Amino acid sequence: MVTAREGWEGWDDYAPFYDWENARTFGRRDIAFWCQCVSGERGPVLELGSGTGRLTLPAGRTGVGIVGIDRSAAMLEHARRRATRVPRRGRPAFVRGDIRALPFKRACFGAVLAPYGLLQSLLDDRDLDRALAEAARVVRRGGLLAIDLVPELATWAEHGPRECLRGSRHGVAVTLIESVRQDRRRQLTIFDELFIERRGQRERKRKFSLTFRTRPMTDMRTRLEHTGFEVQSVCGDYDGGSWDERAEVWLILARRVTNVRARKASVRAPQRGRAEGGRLRVEGASASLAGVSAEAGTPRAARK
Ligand SMILES: C[S@@+](CC[C@H](N)C(=O)[O-])C[C@H]1O[C@@H](n2cnc3c(N)ncnc32)[C@H](O)[C@@H]1O
Repeated sequence: MVTAREGWEGWDDYAPFYDWENARTFGRRDIAFWCQCVSGERGPVLELGSGTGRLTLPAGRTGVGIVGIDRSAAMLEHARRRATRVPRRGRPAFVRGDIRALPFKRACFGAVLAPYGLLQSLLDDRDLDRALAEAARVVRRGGLLAIDLVPELATWAEHGPRECLRGSRHGVAVTLIESVRQDRRRQLTIFDELFIERRGQRERKRKFSLTFRTRPMTDMRTRLEHTGFEVQSVCGDYDGGSWDERAEVWLILARRVTNVRARKASVRAPQRGRAEGGRLRVEGASASLAGVSAEAGTPRAARK
């Protein structure tokens, strides 16, 4: 099995199963936290790695304008389909793009969210610094950057292929066989996933890997400060509980400093490139998102 070279790999294959698996595992335990988080902020809000819209949709219902960006076309397809069920007024917009090269103008968001381990999909320091620098560029001075890291990934015991979920999806029997590998030197956790769908005699298999990198909290804080954020609080659960190294979630709430005294990060501006099909897609945006002008015409994309 080959380790993914990039953390964005694997999500297209995962897309059909993402909501199904999450409904049986992580569920909605973080949703109230995020809704509360955005409801006190000036919009619009940007959600990095919005996936199938699991959180974008409920956050949009709070009345704040919200834009989700994701690199996976298949994940976005699910999100856009879901969004059609939301009244136009509270409907999020979804954009395809890479979080290391955001296709938005400077200071056009009041808050940026990086939920559910999203930043752990960035597998090296340079990529993390680029994404943080991009968040700093698009959020207004004083705006919020809220990050949820899943530290337990790094502590998972390695194991070979093992059945870890079984159920039915749209009348089709689904089994998930999973193995876990740890690359301690590179701080990577790799999940090798095999989804088997069975309908009668017919069997369909989908095999892919997802890779995450877990960094120490001190490292994250230093990088945030170097990029122009001030860490305001760190919580160990979704109720605002106190944090320590063993906490099951690491929530970091940081603000873009108003007086840019932050040390110049060793972060270079990402290169300009092309987004999906050379055009930026902002679909179904509600009126509250009218001020979010994407840099259509000069959209950005990350390195390959
Ligand atoms: C764990 S899912 C989170 C989805 C959603 N935020 C949620 O809470 O359910 C991570 C998402 O990040 C996206 N992603 C990973 N790396 C990315 C990158 N470099 N740029 C944009 N999206 C990325 C994946 O495609 C995937 O949809």
